[in-house]
Amino acid sequence: MQLKQAVDAAYQHFLDHDVPSPRLNAELLLMFVLGRARAYLYTYPECELTPQEQSRYDEVVRARARGCPTQYITGHQEFWGLDFIVSPAVLIPRPETEHVIETVLELLKQYEPHGRLRMIDIGTGSGCIALAVASELPQLEIDACDISEHALEVACANAVRLGLEKRVQFRHSDLLSAYPGEQFDFVISNPPYVGESEADKVQKQVREFEPKTAVFSGWEGMEIYKRLIPQAQAALKRGGWLVMEIGYSTEEKVRNLLTGFSDVQTTTDLQGIPRVVAARLSN
Ligand SMILES: C[S@@+](CC[C@H](N)C(=O)[O-])C[C@H]1O[C@@H](n2cnc3c(N)ncnc32)[C@H](O)[C@@H]1O
Repeated sequence: MQLKQAVDAAYQHFLDHDVPSPRLNAELLLMFVLGRARAYLYTYPECELTPQEQSRYDEVVRARARGCPTQYITGHQEFWGLDFIVSPAVLIPRPETEHVIETVLELLKQYEPHGRLRMIDIGTGSGCIALAVASELPQLEIDACDISEHALEVACANAVRLGLEKRVQFRHSDLLSAYPGEQFDFVISNPPYVGESEADKVQKQVREFEPKTAVFSGWEGMEIYKRLIPQAQAALKRGGWLVMEIGYSTEEKVRNLLTGFSDVQTTTDLQGIPRVVAARLSN
């Protein structure tokens, strides 16, 4: 089959299976199978696929039509301009999470650290938050943890690929339990925040393919916030910041848990949806 015919057939298959952005997905997967840029598909539309390429393309098109995210097939996702490896052990980094990085960098402009600046990223997944922050701040050493050992393997691999392995220390930890008595200037987290009660409203590819521990947090989505906020309060230095991503409907519930903090502020995303809450531990 020729390249253009293969893309057209995959496009039709994706339309029939309600795959979002069907042409883009058909092209991305063929680029992945051929190891070529998009321009190649348009320059040589009549080029014939080899039998091996055809069979590999059929395989990945079937996987995508079953709901498997393109990023788990290609193994990559861009975040903060950096290329991250992803596997089904980690949440695929989302563009809206970049607001977490922006918030941290903005708060840092006004922040005077007490001694060495210490930050921790809780629930690091692919490592995207810790590694993006480290890439922006060449002097910074940052801690990062996750309850999933498989996620930590991916995060460590990303640190090495990005040349940041000496500046990001990963630990296996249930929230802050592996850091007893340690004090931080910034506690940062994009925790799981979808309620099990909302599971049927979540996209199929999230519900069925992304790790449950990365997505769901109790019936209402609040379980991790309820544990994380008091732990962060105990671990923050006076004047330090807790910065957390929030779900589209959780702003008020999260703010209600932030008693003991001051300067509580919310950042909205490009659609005007509240995305990040930052709160300062009073001096
Ligand atoms: C929403 S994902 C965020 C991943 C990554 N930080 C990002 O922004 O793409 C939440 C992460 O928290 C981790 N997690 C869930 N419960 C945890 C806990 N009790 N302690 C530490 N990490 C936890 C999950 O394994 C997952 O990697």
